Amino acid sequence: MNGIEIFGTGSYVPDFVADNDKFSEILDTSDEWIFPRTGIKQRHIATDVPNYYMGAEAAKNALKSANFKAEDVDLIIVSTCTPDFFYPAMSCLVQKRIGAVNAACFDVNSACTGFITALDIAYNYLATGKHKNILIVSSEKLSQQVDYTDRASSILFGDAAGAVLIRKSDKPFYSFLGAEGDEFEALYCKVNYRTNCPWYGDINEFYENRFDDEHKQNYLVQDGKAVYKFAVNAMANAVKNAASQGGYDPSELDLVIPHQANLRIIEKATELLGVPSDKVYTNIEHMGNVSSACIPICLNELFKAGRIKEGMKLCFVGFGAGLTYGAAVMEV
Ligand code: UT7
Repeated sequence: MNGIEIFGTGSYVPDFVADNDKFSEILDTSDEWIFPRTGIKQRHIATDVPNYYMGAEAAKNALKSANFKAEDVDLIIVSTCTPDFFYPAMSCLVQKRIGAVNAACFDVNSACTGFITALDIAYNYLATGKHKNILIVSSEKLSQQVDYTDRASSILFGDAAGAVLIRKSDKPFYSFLGAEGDEFEALYCKVNYRTNCPWYGDINEFYENRFDDEHKQNYLVQDGKAVYKFAVNAMANAVKNAASQGGYDPSELDLVIPHQANLRIIEKATELLGVPSDKVYTNIEHMGNVSSACIPICLNELFKAGRIKEGMKLCFVGFGAGLTYGAAVMEV
């Protein structure tokens, strides 16, 4: 059987903490509003380092945890929807900082589903034998896109990075990825290119003129209710799909590690699946939503706490802008 083994984990969490009271200082909001609706008490903000720095630090910690040399990594996949550069790929910047001179590098962007997408790609590369030791880095600096005048979205997001080392094993691994591009306007960040190309016509018709509003350019824009509605069913369906490939019922999973978007979404989706809350791991209270970095950071916390035991069936599940969704089930 083709499967994967996670043989190292690491994370980087910036020092600066913005708790709910800090948001009350800049917006008409409160801990009484935020915590019951989201499960979030605080998030970390990278006030003085770029995204790729966080990714590289998480990667170094993953290498250290495995006592593994950067030179022996043969592929780096970075998942991010908040890169510092359009190009080069952030994986190249991470490669430079950690000295993984023998690695191929590319990035994936399926927003908050990014870690699961990267894992799915890594699994397929390992299965073909094309690569042997893969480093996945999920690093997100949402604070560079969040609109801090929008109280309905800004309170959700934070900055951080997680990393995992993956190699082939004979343990089972199953995954599922899906997308509903029709729903893309529920969550987006439109790039405002500062082009001075003199031959451009008006291309706004492609966007139905909705992006004329300067304020909606370069900022994260979200229809929270639409995302919420999508997320609950998408998460439940993704888990069912991945679990059924291995012949498992979701109730047989030992630990579900979901994307940390909103505690209420996690509770509803896992209730639909019949997974009891003591089998669902969350860190949203102290981390907020750090997009694709949520799941590998949770994994690192779990491995460090010794909570991942041999034989356990783990499930990762997420959703995000796209709208994308996905899940993976693996035996440890
Ligand atoms: O990785 C994917 C990330 N995205 C998500 O997971 C988003 C999923 N959606 C959600 O989590 C929820 O939609 C939110 C928590 C973002 C918002 O909750 P909601 O119940 O959908 O609020 P709403 O945007 O419909 O707003 C309801 C009311 C409005 O006031 P009025 O117009 O009824 O007077 C908002 O202005 O709540 C108000 N409101 C707030 N009040 C205090 C919205 N945000 C806040 C706030 N503090 N932070």
